[in-house]
Amino acid sequence: MKVFIVGIAGGVGSRLARLLTAAGDRVDGLYRRPEQGERLATEGIHATHGDLTRLDASTLAALLHDTDVLVFAAGAGGEGGTAATTAIDGTGLTTAIEAARLAGIRRLLLVSVFPEAWRHRDMPDAFEHYIDVKKKADAELAATDLDWTILRPAALTDAAGTGRVSLSPALIHTDITRDDVAATLAELVHTPQIHHRILELAQGPDPIADAVRRQNGNRPAGLR
Ligand SMILES: NC(=O)c1ccc[n+]([C@@H]2O[C@H](COP(=O)([O-])OP(=O)(O)OC[C@H]3O[C@@H](n4cnc5c(N)ncnc54)[C@H](OP(=O)(O)O)[C@@H]3O)[C@@H](O)[C@H]2O)c1
Repeated sequence: MKVFIVGIAGGVGSRLARLLTAAGDRVDGLYRRPEQGERLATEGIHATHGDLTRLDASTLAALLHDTDVLVFAAGAGGEGGTAATTAIDGTGLTTAIEAARLAGIRRLLLVSVFPEAWRHRDMPDAFEHYIDVKKKADAELAATDLDWTILRPAALTDAAGTGRVSLSPALIHTDITRDDVAATLAELVHTPQIHHRILELAQGPDPIADAVRRQNGNRPAGLR
């Protein structure tokens, strides 16, 4: 299977690239800083240099040659203000959707966020804008005819992965390691039967493979 990861040098993206490469998948992806490509190459991970905000859909589509699954794990990460959030988390996904269509790719996995993340806190306007852009991106992808999956992780940490999660259409927002998000994404990449699903992810008791298998079995009848 060939997987293209937009945001391959990021915390989640790079972990996913390592897992998929170790599993024997062909991996490519987009990174924007030259040194990131060098670091990925030392790990045996091929990736492509490019800035999502400067690529049009046809240019990105040309990079997606032979891709089976497109994973969108990029994000502004709070840098560059609200304009960057709109350009990367919002318009960047629009570009990826259009590129998938042009390249004839059916499967797109989006790393999103809990819409109610930190509702009990008084968060800055930039965070509210981020949540708004992410929810609109979810809605845009869900309205396409792609075989999409939206994964909403809880607050990300860099603690070592536990291999155990909760995965469900609705969870309470807690936290989750980037290791376990990447491992769940890898499992979803390898479970093509799951699509047209919004799944929330938090640390929990279930082995990741079991958690994904359960969602596969719970797929509502009637969906493709
Ligand atoms: N932080 C949280 O608690 C949390 C919770 C739930 C969901 N999420 C979502 O999870 C996703 C992944 O999180 P993460 O921790 O892996 O984030 P990350 O480490 O910041 O990775 C995001 C990657 O996207 C890349 N990127 C940004 N703009 C780009 C552009 N114009 N062109 C190409 N690449 C670009 C970044 O490049 P650079 O390395 O050059 O910056 C970075 O490598 C994000 O979408 C985030 O919104 C985060």
